[in-house]
Amino acid sequence: MLSLAALSVAACSASHPGPPGGPVGSAPAGARETRFVDSLLSTLTLEEELGQLTMSPAEGLQTGPTRPAGSAAQIRSGQVGSIIGIWGADRTHALQRIAVEESRHGIPILFSLDVIHGFRTVFPVPLAEAASFDPALAQSNARIAATEATANGITWTFAPMVDIARDPRWGRIVEGSGEEPYLGSVMAAARVRGFQDARLSDSASMLATAKHFAGYGASEGGRDYATAEISERTFWSTYLPPFRAAIDAGVGSVMPSFSAVNGSPPHASVWMLRDVLRGRLGFEGLVVSDWTGIMELVKHGVAATSGEAAQLAMRAGVDVDMSDGVYSDSLPAHARDNPELRSEIDAATRRVLRAKYELGLFSDPYHGASEARAARVTLTAATRAAARAAARESIVLLKNERATLPLSRDIKSLAVRGALAADAKSAMGSWTIVGQAREAVSVLDGLRRANPAMRVRYAAGAAPEAADTNEISEAEALARDADAVVLVLGESSDRTGEAESRAFLELPFAQLQLAQRVTRAARGKPIVVVLMNGRPLAIPWIADSVPAIVESWYLGSEHGNALADILFGAYSPSGKLPVTFPRATGQVPIYLAHTNTGRPHNPEDGYTSGYNDLPETPLFPYGFGLSYTTFRYGDVHLSSDRIRAGDSIGVSVAVTNTGARDADEVVQLYLRDDVASVARPVRQLARFQRVHLRAGATDTVSFMLGARDLSFYDLQMRRVVEPGGFTLFAGTNSAETKEARFVVVGDTLVLEPSTPRMQ
Ligand code: NOJ
Repeated sequence: MLSLAALSVAACSASHPGPPGGPVGSAPAGARETRFVDSLLSTLTLEEELGQLTMSPAEGLQTGPTRPAGSAAQIRSGQVGSIIGIWGADRTHALQRIAVEESRHGIPILFSLDVIHGFRTVFPVPLAEAASFDPALAQSNARIAATEATANGITWTFAPMVDIARDPRWGRIVEGSGEEPYLGSVMAAARVRGFQDARLSDSASMLATAKHFAGYGASEGGRDYATAEISERTFWSTYLPPFRAAIDAGVGSVMPSFSAVNGSPPHASVWMLRDVLRGRLGFEGLVVSDWTGIMELVKHGVAATSGEAAQLAMRAGVDVDMSDGVYSDSLPAHARDNPELRSEIDAATRRVLRAKYELGLFSDPYHGASEARAARVTLTAATRAAARAAARESIVLLKNERATLPLSRDIKSLAVRGALAADAKSAMGSWTIVGQAREAVSVLDGLRRANPAMRVRYAAGAAPEAADTNEISEAEALARDADAVVLVLGESSDRTGEAESRAFLELPFAQLQLAQRVTRAARGKPIVVVLMNGRPLAIPWIADSVPAIVESWYLGSEHGNALADILFGAYSPSGKLPVTFPRATGQVPIYLAHTNTGRPHNPEDGYTSGYNDLPETPLFPYGFGLSYTTFRYGDVHLSSDRIRAGDSIGVSVAVTNTGARDADEVVQLYLRDDVASVARPVRQLARFQRVHLRAGATDTVSFMLGARDLSFYDLQMRRVVEPGGFTLFAGTNSAETKEARFVVVGDTLVLEPSTPRMQ
């Protein structure tokens, strides 16, 4: 059957807008695009519109009344606008063919999947990638992921996750860029650009999703899905900036959060989705519900029935119903004689059609996917090399006493301990749907390959989550005989991510026992603890007692190879912590950008902020990470010591590689607004730059800061730059810095009027 859409495309191939597709994401639609979308929309029935708003889950995943996505009948009758959980060029083609050739309008389907840190080639988990402080790397990793995913039929990913997280008990901290809004913003924009590139219609581009809007990372007690209490100022200054950055980078879709903020679940929040997201942030793309997010409004207690939930979500501005089928099921009855609801459904459908148009699906519904293209671009030597390079940059050296690392290439026998060492699945990290553990290099394999002449003897000793200590004696004995010991500790990757909150950030008993006994048995030899984890852990004993500690997170397909590159010195570590490491769970939340309080900690004075049983400082501060070389920072130079509000200021600092090896360094710049009408953070990340320095070389790194960087939300919730003193700190991490001061003079500059009142 020649469908209407096919007809309109065929009939107006002359008038169909030039290259298929339109602008990316939130740019205003062009006139021709609008005409095309409006004319198609005018031919759809209410049920067909709701079909466009329905995302159908792959078989076995459905949660609500929607039937499984494989159902040809459903696609043929126009009840499916998008599908989640099906990939592969042949599989997606078969379903797309039904949509395009057999449904009344021939509207192509969007195929969606959580492509979070790679598709088949798995890159470091986002938190690890953030530790690279290298947005160009994040962009290129996302581009490779999009190239693989689109070749395999995917046109929509639910990434990047841009939630700021300051509580490592929350398992989803692994999916984001850590605690600082500036790094979170830069990484968000880079990943959006990687997924979408300049044109969505490029066959290697897919729609990206900034999630979870907003404040999800503030879930109480780090418990996933729990409610969040966030002040208006914190909401705007801490949780929103990465979303703003993603939107400015053109992100095509946004997903609301599960967690109620101040009692209001985002899936039903007109304030959040209309006033803030569309109104103030100017987002014009698609809003897609989270999985069962609409139906959960009933459990939240803001809707009595799923029908009511559907109306609330539609009114708030949720365009696509991800998995519930409640839009199709219950909105027809309410929308028929409710013009307001009907026009909201029209607007939502328009946005879905627009996304399809921008992807160029009305010209090529398959978006260039084919088995041949997939075979050519998926998990190749080049993508593996990229994954290895990315993994190397993401590793953070936390301690290196007496130059324990790099290990000598002359080592004859190496004892490897800890079950994570052989766990290739964990090496890939959470959220790997298509990547295969058998294609990932475990720590053990990486170490074996690095030096075939070296004898590697492995004994698990203890599993990450088990209490069993029976195998520790063997592990201890083997360690005694080896030249060096690598102890791999942490958490399995499936204990991180969604719904994987932890009450204890300390190592479980068996792992700590293993560490203590092996360290005792091998005293005097090079002992290295390699951490594999998706969140900061509280490891005070290890930090005190083991000479070398390497934070390896979950590095993806090339984990073991990249780690071996670091341990044997082929590459000098250069990653920095994107999140603060506590000494104990009880210190949480502990993060860089806290305010000073009226009684900042003073060890001489008991009546100041802190604990009576623990130092107030973190175990490792934000931005921390060592190298195999050393760097010296010169004084911080400013372009001026007085600027007017609204002017920019230049900052520069000379950095010298004072060691014997070439290496990368991440030069960091922090800012403090010394006196303002509201209390400002003691330090916040303002800029950073990764530089490569040859041994002995000096580079001068320069930054420009403008009004937005100096601004904050004042008592009236206006975004302003106030006159007064500022301090800038430059250094190798947030705690070891040199500083310079300047003054902003003149009147307060208002960059944005008061924010829409929080509801
Ligand atoms: C639930 C998660 O919260 C969200 O991040 C994800 O994209 C959806 N499930 C779809 O898998």
